[in-house]
Amino acid sequence: MLALFPVLAFLATTTALPAAQQQQLPFLPSISPAYQGAINNQINPLKHLSAISPFYIPTQQPTPLPEGCELDRVSLLVRHSSILGNDDEYEQTMQPFIAKIADMDKSKIPEDGEWAFLRDWQTPIVEEKLEQVSEQGKKDAKFLGKYIRKQYNSLFPPKQKTSNKTKGGKGKGKGKKQPPYKVWTASSTRDIDTAKAYILGGFPSHQSGDGGEGDGDVVQLVKVPNKARDWDRSLTPHKACDAFEKQSSLEPANQWLSVYAPRVIDRLKGIMPEVADELIDQDILAMQMLCGYETIAQGHSPFCHLFTDEEWRDVEYYFDVRFHYMMGFGNELSPYLGMPWSKTAKHLLAGKDTGGNGKHTPNSEGAHEDDEVLHPSFTHRESPAFVAVFLNLFNASTHPHPSSEVPPLDHRVDDRAWRTSHLVSFLGHVALERYHCGGASGHDTPKDGKKHNKVDYVRAVVNGIQETMSGCEDGLEGSCKWETFDRWIDERAQRWGDWESVCDKEE
Ligand SMILES: *[C@@H]1O[C@H](CO)[C@@H](O)[C@H](O)[C@H]1NC(C)=O
Ligand SMILES: *[C@@H]1O[C@H](CO)[C@@H](O)[C@H](O)[C@H]1NC(C)=O
Repeated sequence: MLALFPVLAFLATTTALPAAQQQQLPFLPSISPAYQGAINNQINPLKHLSAISPFYIPTQQPTPLPEGCELDRVSLLVRHSSILGNDDEYEQTMQPFIAKIADMDKSKIPEDGEWAFLRDWQTPIVEEKLEQVSEQGKKDAKFLGKYIRKQYNSLFPPKQKTSNKTKGGKGKGKGKKQPPYKVWTASSTRDIDTAKAYILGGFPSHQSGDGGEGDGDVVQLVKVPNKARDWDRSLTPHKACDAFEKQSSLEPANQWLSVYAPRVIDRLKGIMPEVADELIDQDILAMQMLCGYETIAQGHSPFCHLFTDEEWRDVEYYFDVRFHYMMGFGNELSPYLGMPWSKTAKHLLAGKDTGGNGKHTPNSEGAHEDDEVLHPSFTHRESPAFVAVFLNLFNASTHPHPSSEVPPLDHRVDDRAWRTSHLVSFLGHVALERYHCGGASGHDTPKDGKKHNKVDYVRAVVNGIQETMSGCEDGLEGSCKWETFDRWIDERAQRWGDWESVCDKEE
């Protein structure tokens, strides 16, 4: 009974999820008198900034499992938490705008009204801090650790102090020492910092290590080199892929920018003609990006109040176009680059420990069932997008605008399925969940050695929302039967398996 106490105490502090979330997440500050006349937004722009959106959970409650079903194993892929600016976006877009305002004759800027702040605007987004996880980002990742713990508590090692007992949450002692529970991270500082904060949130302090590196006994942080090429190790295949590049996707995105940004500049001509005369399309994008990054850095940004809902939806579409071509269905490399994590996830869901060395032990000889049942890995924005393509998410032909459809560049498509704000926001995450319904738990091998009559399923969950893997959907409530999934992943891995050859740059 005593042993249960810490668990109950934990639940008590986290059941009030919405309130906790409100404390954790940056919200728009209420419009103060200084912003009189500013635009009253119906939407929160921070939820429409795609990869610049600070962590938020699109729904309060994750999609529940079907009635009578129980989780067995989960593989989780998480993008790192919010950073103080991205190198490329800074260099190409934000920095030129920041310099333009710094050099501008200030008499051109209105003395009052919502734009007056530009006269002595100082941005917290500076070159020296780019790519660093923000303080809020660390808090958010810690919150994610608590949130994931709450969602998947039975899949975590127990919180008790003694580690001599078996872990796995089911409390069935096998009397042998368990290998530590591993949390995987790509090797960039922002990934490592995120994974550490996640560990601090998800595990009791005696297991998480002083800084979240794990105690090495129950919990261990494993860093995967960015350039690792082994299919079951790489969390960042694009970094080992010479043919992958980000530049060409700017072209279609900027074509759309040249449709919507001039409309914004025209509107601003009515408010501050002399400033608007000097603005180019990229400056509109810069201000909308700064709304996100400044909020991440300091909790608020004046730029978040200066654009209409339509203009925020336009910039969201800009990112969706860009990422369609850079890391979505519009890039033929995407399924190849989504294969390594997906295939690894399947092996882990099957209960095979891949060993992380590119060779997996054959099941017959020396095989050991993997005792870890929840495998989290932390990486960059590209990976959840590639995995979404490999798993064929958001691409059902029943959808009015499936993900694979080419996005028009002369108008915005509002009912599109490809919404990167829901996929690659900071701490955006994709889970593959294996569960069973009725019958024995997937952890148990019954004494008679035969499997009980039960059916296993897999479903894909993106930021808490179940999404259909089109072509693998013969399970309960849009999930996929395990056998089908097993075969389907293998077929797709065969089709898009040879990523090293497509990654070689043609000279
Ligand atoms: C756990 O193991 C450690 C060292 O291996 C030992 O000192 C300790 O007494 C053990 N605890 C329990 C509860 O068995
Ligand atoms: C997306 O859907 C289309 C139409 O069904 C299909 O042809 C295409 O192969 C799908 N894309 C992927 C990556 O599976």
